[in-house]
Amino acid sequence: MKRCIINKKAAKKVHEFFPWVYKSDIISPLEEYEAGELVKIFDENEQFLAVGYINPASTITIRILSLKDEPINYRFFKSRILRAAAKRVKLFDNACRVIHSEGDYLPGLIVDRYGEYLSVQFLTAGILRFKEEILDILLNLYEPKGVYIEGEKNSLRKEKVEPFNEIIGEIPERVFFVENGIKFQVNLIDAQKTGFYLDQRRNRQIVSRYIKQKDKILDCFCHAGGFGLYAKVKKDADVRLVDISEDAIALAKENFMLNDVKGKFVVANVFDYLRELRKQKEKFDVIILDPPSFAKSRSKKSSALKGFKDITVNAMKLIRNEGYIALFSCSHHVGLKDLEQVIMQSSIDNKKVVEIVEYLFQDVDHPYILNNEFSLYLTGILFKVLDV
Ligand SMILES: C[S@@+](CC[C@H](N)C(=O)[O-])C[C@H]1O[C@@H](n2cnc3c(N)ncnc32)[C@H](O)[C@@H]1O
Repeated sequence: MKRCIINKKAAKKVHEFFPWVYKSDIISPLEEYEAGELVKIFDENEQFLAVGYINPASTITIRILSLKDEPINYRFFKSRILRAAAKRVKLFDNACRVIHSEGDYLPGLIVDRYGEYLSVQFLTAGILRFKEEILDILLNLYEPKGVYIEGEKNSLRKEKVEPFNEIIGEIPERVFFVENGIKFQVNLIDAQKTGFYLDQRRNRQIVSRYIKQKDKILDCFCHAGGFGLYAKVKKDADVRLVDISEDAIALAKENFMLNDVKGKFVVANVFDYLRELRKQKEKFDVIILDPPSFAKSRSKKSSALKGFKDITVNAMKLIRNEGYIALFSCSHHVGLKDLEQVIMQSSIDNKKVVEIVEYLFQDVDHPYILNNEFSLYLTGILFKVLDV
């Protein structure tokens, strides 16, 4: 394994268990390394720090695999994968993220389990070097009927690696699973994420607790219909679901049919649709705002905040007195403090008081590692809106 020297600043971060080293912090000449090869990392005093893999093409140039000087081989991956599986035992129904990249100390690897099928994403050149070992371990452990394997295009582009996809066994057009007693089916191929937003599982449950029988619900950015379906199945609410994607709305409709319940479905841009509803003077008891990541990088933060403000101000105009709004951000760059500010400004603009009811986070199969601030990426606030 080649050696790689990093500067003091990065060495300090590694000591604090931060899992990445950026290009600008590497002292050794980068031309020495091939994309994805293993390296032993040392500080400027030649003290061993960690073992990781390197890709000179990527801004996040080294991802750390172990803080011990140990071989990175089949045994290493088996032990990490078993540890990740043990963490989740008995916590979930039959759909769960079983490996969450850095959150399970396996950078670049995401594995979601949907019933008898697995969806596997390889995000880096480094983890791809161990593709055969990883798939063999997963096949032995989970004995799936099929595995959909994706070299994820957005991540691999940053690594200068060609995206790809493969199937082991068979992947049906629709894969069935149960979440908190509610039936879902999703498409693993041509899907958003790996097919479904598993990270919102516990928030769907929490939000549904505040919904009363027959309440009028608006599920904005609904994708497969998760929040709306919980409201319908658990509380027999009157649910309207909105998404810009026709495929997402088709999937949400199928999921309502699968549970033998009815909803109203709208293909629309939520930004425009909320304005339309205002013109029609419609009112709702609960509104869910779960937009896509508006801020994929720090530089997009201020335009993202404008987007958040727009939907929050308009949702507040549509909510009945003492109704609830759940507002989410799925980008690390817009966190709870930012959401609070957006809600505060919207409260002043609307002359309404806001009561914070719940702070919301990604579910625990998407671990938040305190030593890596980027691992907290999904946050939300459930709040009540009151007339003064
Ligand atoms: C984070 S996902 C929502 C996940 C969903 N709430 C769940 O629990 O599974 C965001 C969704 O917003 C949709 N979307 C993106 N931009 C939109 C827009 N301007 N108007 C409506 N939907 C949009 C996407 O198609 C995607 O389905």
